[in-house]
Amino acid sequence: MSMPGWSVQPVPEMTPEQYDKWQNLLEGRTGNHFSWQRRSILQANLAGRMRELGLNDYDAYYQRVTAPDGSLEWTTLVERLTVHETRFFRHQPSFELMTSFLEKRIAEKQQSGLELWSVGCSTGEETWSLAMTVCQLLRQSEQVLRYSVTGTDISLKALAHARQGEYARRRLGDLPTELQQRYFEDGSGEALTIGSLLRERVCFTRVNVLDLERAPMSNMDVIFCQNLLIYFRPWRRRIILGQLAERLAPNGLLILGPGEMTDWTHPDLQQVNNDQVLAFYRRTGVTCSK
Ligand SMILES: C[S@@+](CC[C@H](N)C(=O)[O-])C[C@H]1O[C@@H](n2cnc3c(N)ncnc32)[C@H](O)[C@@H]1O
Repeated sequence: MSMPGWSVQPVPEMTPEQYDKWQNLLEGRTGNHFSWQRRSILQANLAGRMRELGLNDYDAYYQRVTAPDGSLEWTTLVERLTVHETRFFRHQPSFELMTSFLEKRIAEKQQSGLELWSVGCSTGEETWSLAMTVCQLLRQSEQVLRYSVTGTDISLKALAHARQGEYARRRLGDLPTELQQRYFEDGSGEALTIGSLLRERVCFTRVNVLDLERAPMSNMDVIFCQNLLIYFRPWRRRIILGQLAERLAPNGLLILGPGEMTDWTHPDLQQVNNDQVLAFYRRTGVTCSK
């Protein structure tokens, strides 16, 4: 039954030339590769935004986004085209590996403290999970240690949510009640908000992984990078992973999503022997170049 005055406009088909133009722009600026098979996602998201702007021509919208004053529109589009799905303690075996790594690391780093980095942190669940892990370990071992956790992402909207640290109860999933009570406070309505215990240790900032050479992070004890590079072509993943490797402290740990880069090796890194987790240690004696 059609509703009077209400109709959904069909998504206009892109020509192969238009697809190429948009795909090159998006991949060149964000690294995300929209293969021909993922064309319908690209098309639907562009068309959704074009509809809001009253446009139905992919070329006209392209001109608007790439115009000298198009940066605001570009930011809006990036929010639509990036996948923000995430969860607290998303991949349990990765967190277990990191926990046993940190147990030893805490004892070694009493003087200098610990630095952790969540790359492609989305709305912050991963970053806060890293902070909770360190905080729990320090609590259990009754140690005091300076530590900081940085979450970075290309999406300003996701980062704003991450900083706000407010999550609907249903988004907390299986997070143990003990952790909910210790690290969260009541938020608005049905939501819980991250409390001050973690806030003073965590910061969020915008970093596009295509611009890592400009990112100030260095000497990281842990770099967590999951479910970001899966949208990138293998050659680009390798470049980015090489740059992340340079930012690890000696003996630092890089954790990727399982299966994200199965055939990758790096001369300064040694793969962790664990068939559930894809992770690498930076070898001892290698000096950090950054
Ligand atoms: C699927 S989420 C992964 C979130 C979290 N790491 C996890 O595994 O649950 C992917 C995130 O990567 C971000 N992203 C995509 N391209 C990026 C880029 N070029 N630089 C930085 N972040 C990017 C997206 O905005 C999104 O928040």
